[in-house]
Amino acid sequence: MAIETAAPAAFSPVTHELRGKVLLVTVDNPPVNALGVDVRRGLAAAIEHAETDATVQAVLIVGAGRNFIAGADIREFGKPPQPPALPDVLHRIEASHKPVIAAIHGAALGGGLEVALAAHYRLAVAGAKLGLPEVQLGLLPGAGGTQRAPRLIGAEAALSLMLSGRHVGAQEALKLGLVDRVGASEDILAEGLAYAQELLASHAHVRRTRDAQGLADRAASQAAIDAARADTAKKSRGLFSPLKIVDCVQAALDESFEEGLRFERKQFLACLESPQRAGLVHAFFAEREVQKAPETKSATPRAIETVGVIGGGTMGAGIAVAVLDAGLAVTMIERDDAALARGRAHVEKVYDGLIAKGRMKPEAKAQILARFSGSTSYDALANVDLVIEAVFEDMAVKQAVFAELDRVCKPGAVLATNTSYLDIDAIAASIKRPQDVVGLHFFSPANIMKLLEVVVPKAVSADVVATAFELAKKLRKVAVRAGVCDGFIGNRVLAVYRTAADHLMEDGASPYQIDKAVREFGFPMGPYQVSDLAGGDIGWATRKRRAPTRDPKARYVQIADRLCERGWFGQKTGRGYYLYPEGARTGTPDPEVEAIIAAERERAGITPRTFTDEEIIRRYMAAMINEGANVVHEKIALRPLDVDMTFIYGYGFPRYRGGPMKYADTVGLANVLADIREFAKEDPLFWRPSPLLVELVERGADFASLNQTA
Ligand code: 3HC
Ligand code: NAI
Repeated sequence: MAIETAAPAAFSPVTHELRGKVLLVTVDNPPVNALGVDVRRGLAAAIEHAETDATVQAVLIVGAGRNFIAGADIREFGKPPQPPALPDVLHRIEASHKPVIAAIHGAALGGGLEVALAAHYRLAVAGAKLGLPEVQLGLLPGAGGTQRAPRLIGAEAALSLMLSGRHVGAQEALKLGLVDRVGASEDILAEGLAYAQELLASHAHVRRTRDAQGLADRAASQAAIDAARADTAKKSRGLFSPLKIVDCVQAALDESFEEGLRFERKQFLACLESPQRAGLVHAFFAEREVQKAPETKSATPRAIETVGVIGGGTMGAGIAVAVLDAGLAVTMIERDDAALARGRAHVEKVYDGLIAKGRMKPEAKAQILARFSGSTSYDALANVDLVIEAVFEDMAVKQAVFAELDRVCKPGAVLATNTSYLDIDAIAASIKRPQDVVGLHFFSPANIMKLLEVVVPKAVSADVVATAFELAKKLRKVAVRAGVCDGFIGNRVLAVYRTAADHLMEDGASPYQIDKAVREFGFPMGPYQVSDLAGGDIGWATRKRRAPTRDPKARYVQIADRLCERGWFGQKTGRGYYLYPEGARTGTPDPEVEAIIAAERERAGITPRTFTDEEIIRRYMAAMINEGANVVHEKIALRPLDVDMTFIYGYGFPRYRGGPMKYADTVGLANVLADIREFAKEDPLFWRPSPLLVELVERGADFASLNQTA
């Protein structure tokens, strides 16, 4: 087939040279050899060349640098397509009359693996990562992957790869039949050339994946498709592309290869145009962008091998586990022997849980705990490189701890606090080395939650901030840079949309309806379920502490206080907003709570009204977006995307919506502002439009424009 292609660029990222009778085709498009338009052109041209040059008897495709090919160029999505299209290039590769071999090292993902599937033979070396992760970007494999993969490795294995998006290593790929051979060494060029020579010597023929027989057992294939469909319908709530992947595999079973490809193309384009794809791709880039705080470019991180953790409660123990899991040594400090024993027990409990589930061997636990020690004396921290304080949320207690750290820690040790709300500038100012003090705000459970807010006080030195980002990488967490204020990025915005939810509840929506609406929007839990899980007493204590400074004119909903006064703190007390009979983890609505809410409405002189789920979400999201805009405006967050990452990784915001600020762009900032102005008619004190939101709407700009210019 002749395919439409402009001439390759003068400096094509795809080069070819003869090695004996083998045409070596090298894709060299840093950083990850993505299949941008010039790569597609270059691949097509290389195959044309091979077909017309009589000396060429086989073609070997390799990637330069650390990867084979990481997939389509994600930056091209949403822009006008440029020929040749990838499926056409891959058709050309598969149709070649001379054997084409793909030699895979590093990533062969998405379109990259599809290139390999279109080749006739595949070899991988150790360290290779093969996968079809398109689902994670709201897509499906769109260059024949949904048709070739099931034919090559069967419906069940192909569905599992495409629906999970997981990467498989060389050995597993061999077992699945995804590759024909695993190279003995990691020298991809030598291995690939040797394999090509061997195939030529044995007169190996062109062997096309489209003719492979992985779907020959129709009944088994249909059963795998049915099972995947049922499972996907249950698990991929709200997601657009997973069921389309299943449909494509059904087409692979029922239709001709060409018909299947046409079907796949149509589904791929539908996914490409979906807001979910835009949200997920935004999240992909934001996740990488957020880690590049200015200090990571201007300063060199300090070396971290040993870490002190102060406090062995909920957070201290979780932080200790996160640090141990990263291979570092931990010294835990507690107030007395009993508290230290409890702290150690909290740490051990995490590993015992893994052992009970068969996910860890007891020997592994012992090895990890060999790096753990505890003490009741701060002197044990004399040599640690970094300390993370996680004691009670009380300024005096924290300052006393920092005074001890100032006394015992070696010069250059990084001194971090896990405070949720307290003024870190004041903590830093209380000791002689404020330049070493930083906030490391973990989320509970700290060994699981991916978010780490790196809170940057005024006096901190840049290399300490760079160290915090480096530590986050070691802990496999997503670090977001935040400025000092009450609640930093996440908890500050949370406080506002939680208040909006309380207003809705007092005005007539039940907590159960609010939770349901929020879940249907895509959060795993609604705000009242979260409150029951975290324990209502924590918020109660904060409200009591803030009571003296609360604006007397601000609306204050007392429903939560009424529940707490009864000792209904949530799951741990068997009831909160919901009832949890006999330790149940899912709550059931409580008529007594509804009666308390009704009484509170009456006390406040409110005639309840009804809200649709859509009205609930509009208020909830408007509050979140408006405070998100304030946080950016005040430079607490560097850019809107930092707010997006905070909410996706710390608060369960649905990733496919890209985060609250991306969602606001999708809805249109003018619409969000109009909503806020409408709500302000009832409560102008609460609904004050953020100056940034107003400015953007006046300029006709969106939040995305601030991500680009930062
Ligand atoms: N397109 C464009 N840019 C890409 C890219 C892609 N497919 N994959 C990675 N990049 C960029 C990153 O944005 C980053 O850019 P930056 O340096 O400016 O921030 C740079 O490459 C390096 O990426 P990482 O920081 O992620 O590097 P790692 O070494 O940690 O990881 C990787 C490498 C495993 C390849 C990882 O980048 C990855 O998973 N990439 C995405 C793979 C993927 O999803 N492929 C499928 C694409 S969709 C598709 O192919 C559709 C097809 O079916 C038609
Ligand atoms: P916790 O009450 O479970 O644990 C605090 C621990 O600190 C206790 O074990 C206590 O014995 C110990 N401790 C108190 N004073 C000490 C001292 N002077 N020296 C040594 N140990 C001391 O509290 P939790 O929930 O772990 O919170 C700790 C910190 O983490 C607080 O600042 C909190 O705001 C913050 N945080 C809490 C989150 C949560 O979800 N619980 C989330 C993020 C931050």
